[in-house]
Amino acid sequence: MIKHKLRKLGIGLVCGLISCSQQLPQQEEYESLEEISFNEQWKFSKGESTVAMNNNFDDTSWRTLNLPHDWAIEGPFDIAYNSRCGGLPVHGEAWYRKAFEVPSKMDGKKAFVHFEGVMNNAEVFLNGKKIGERPYGYIGFEVDMTSNLKYGEENIIAVKCAPEDLSARWYPGAGIYRDVWIEFKNPIHIALDGTFIKTPVITSEKADVVVDIDLVNTLDKKELVTVETIIQNAKGEKVGNVNSSYNLNKNEEKTISQVLKIENPELWSMEKPHLYFAVTFVKQGDTLLDKYVSSFGVRDIKFLAKEGFLLNGKRIQLKGVCLHHDQGPLGTAVNRRAKERQLQIMKDMGVNAIRTSHNPPSKVLLELCDEMGLVVIDEAFDNWKIGKVENGYNKDWGKWSEKDLRALIRRDRNHPSVIMWSIGNEILEQTKKDGWKEARRLAKITKSEDITRPVTAGFNYHPLAIINKLAHEIDVVGFNYFPIRYEKILEEYPDWVVYGSETSSCTSSRGYYDMPIEPKVAEGSKQVTSYDLVGPPWAYPPDLEFDMLEKNPKILGEFMWTGFDYLGEPTPFGGKDNWTKGYWNDDWPSHSSYFGAADLCGFPKDRYYLYQSQWTDKPMVHVLPHWNWEGKEGEIIPVHAFTNAEEVELIVNGKSYGKKVKGKDLTPIKMTHRDWKSDKPLMSKYRLSWDVPYTPGKIEVIAYTNNKEVARKEISTAGKPHHIVLEADRNIIASDGKDLSYVTVKVVDKDGNFCYTASNDIQFDIEGDGVLAGVGNGDATSLTTLKGDHMEVFNGIALAIIQGTKNGSNPIRIKATAEGLGSAEAIVAFQPSL
Ligand code: GAL
Repeated sequence: MIKHKLRKLGIGLVCGLISCSQQLPQQEEYESLEEISFNEQWKFSKGESTVAMNNNFDDTSWRTLNLPHDWAIEGPFDIAYNSRCGGLPVHGEAWYRKAFEVPSKMDGKKAFVHFEGVMNNAEVFLNGKKIGERPYGYIGFEVDMTSNLKYGEENIIAVKCAPEDLSARWYPGAGIYRDVWIEFKNPIHIALDGTFIKTPVITSEKADVVVDIDLVNTLDKKELVTVETIIQNAKGEKVGNVNSSYNLNKNEEKTISQVLKIENPELWSMEKPHLYFAVTFVKQGDTLLDKYVSSFGVRDIKFLAKEGFLLNGKRIQLKGVCLHHDQGPLGTAVNRRAKERQLQIMKDMGVNAIRTSHNPPSKVLLELCDEMGLVVIDEAFDNWKIGKVENGYNKDWGKWSEKDLRALIRRDRNHPSVIMWSIGNEILEQTKKDGWKEARRLAKITKSEDITRPVTAGFNYHPLAIINKLAHEIDVVGFNYFPIRYEKILEEYPDWVVYGSETSSCTSSRGYYDMPIEPKVAEGSKQVTSYDLVGPPWAYPPDLEFDMLEKNPKILGEFMWTGFDYLGEPTPFGGKDNWTKGYWNDDWPSHSSYFGAADLCGFPKDRYYLYQSQWTDKPMVHVLPHWNWEGKEGEIIPVHAFTNAEEVELIVNGKSYGKKVKGKDLTPIKMTHRDWKSDKPLMSKYRLSWDVPYTPGKIEVIAYTNNKEVARKEISTAGKPHHIVLEADRNIIASDGKDLSYVTVKVVDKDGNFCYTASNDIQFDIEGDGVLAGVGNGDATSLTTLKGDHMEVFNGIALAIIQGTKNGSNPIRIKATAEGLGSAEAIVAFQPSL
């Protein structure tokens, strides 16, 4: 269902408030409704209760808030919490309550509440009675409220969340962190996620479209219905329709199929991600019983051992990143603009594919990937029966795995962006002789829901995943961190379709460099050098993967770990003993990852540009490190450049250090990878380098192709921090209460040169119709709350995220002030909501 399209059209979101109850829409409005947002005006309290579900419970002292909400991101960061889960309070019981009224005339309809995700162990109560539950925090679920709903009076819905400590190997967030909807359906209706649109035959003249529709008759008698499906293109023009009648037996759920044709279809591709919409009407005579809108794309995907991944017949090298679900300073509370920004930053790096590690993503992520032309591996689980953490999903495996997997596929199967279903990441059953049995069960479930996409998994045991035959049970085989074995795997299994489901795992801190460059963390430091040489034993520099992919073109491509830093898993910090115990606190204050090509705020690290130089064509050049090496005058500083041009010239204080040719002039890289047995460095053809004795001033890199300058970058030695510069990514936002402007805060010297090592604390003040939704700086060791009103710049930069209020009109003025640096301002104005 394309809720986002309806949201954009502003349909059905009219909800007035009567006292503190939400009055739901009247019948007339319902006619055009698919759903009603149920996000606003919830009461929230942390703490245990045995009575908070009851209607007479007094919640007046509770906090009032709108969803989506992540309580754990509010912090504080504390060594008492597990750094593996972000050093934030992700566990404990908490309650949400909401009062609402439903008009009497809605009696007779089926009423559902639909949660897109609650973290976790959710229990749902209506008027004191438990009506639903869902342990897995990443999966959406619908609860039927009909039999417990009171019409024309106040109802109380209460949701208990009880996340446990160490339920994940990363920061899971906590609370009702995805959208909630309420839906009224006639007794005859289309089920939740009840359409599946397939395009089995596509030519340039036509596409066959098969629309499977799950019809539900909850009445005690047989009924005849007509079902009409209209296909519209993105301009809203009708390009096909079909109308047919069906008999539904009493209390029957039945899948019917309608077949249509689209003439001269506009294909969904990465360059032009055309979408179509199927609008299905279920009627009896002239009475409309249900209306359901599904978006889909016309596209053909193939995975072939020799040719690789073909999209509409064209080979596409997967230039992928793994992404965890948090949004840095915003935590896990889903926000469309935050995701859009994240994906755009990744696209600008050259990314064309996302792996939703290691769980079902938010709906909005897939909607955006559909719109932005990114392909997705939709991953279900990080563990099966055998757990990896104390309170992992393995506890719920027996009862819930099938339901959750089916729910994931049914929810996501119409997204053209989704190209594979991953049944698991680094599943420990790889080490068990009968591990294949569970793989077979899950693959079978997946195929029973969708035969149009292959099943995959990410294996980190080679050859055990093969010996124990898990790899034989899936269609496309993902290996995590084995680039050196690609050739051997392809030799042994020439018919397999293989890719790097997780690659590199290189770690770094943005803008931080240790001298001399060594493949290890400097003694006593909690930061990691940005020359991209350091990682856990399975990690390796991106250069090795690039090389192995070039040598093994049959490999589909890679999904590097990770696009953005994420909260939790602060590798390479965290002792081995603590790893097994699950406690990583000895390396406190490190509490978020160092793996990202971009940091927790989305600011690119050097590695971002290394990928960009390999994955994009638009001329670029990047140079590192910074040029503020006071006290190292005369010492050698290795200067590295990344480019997609042919050559780069380095100029230091006006003196040329000569041109280096990409692919010919190699850079030695010290490696620590477990498979790299040789003492010899890796000779990288992806970096150009010069050894330069340090003198303060300016370094410039100029990139040439065909002897013509195509790109240039320069870095100057900065003087003392002098003032602040603010850069808002958007100066106009929507007044829908959700939209964001990301304001970058930079400290510069008196001449405007960026201060690469500044660490000043910045105070933020906001005026106008907006709030500070989060602050951050990308420092994995910073304990400053991400929800406060100040943040220190980390290596010169910080971020303030501004959110406009609903129906806001007064422009938002953000003022940033620091001791000795004065203040700077930025203005963000509103455009009316669509
Ligand atoms: C992988 C794992 C990821 C992450 C990564 C860090 O083994 O699948 O979730 O932990 O290592 O290098």
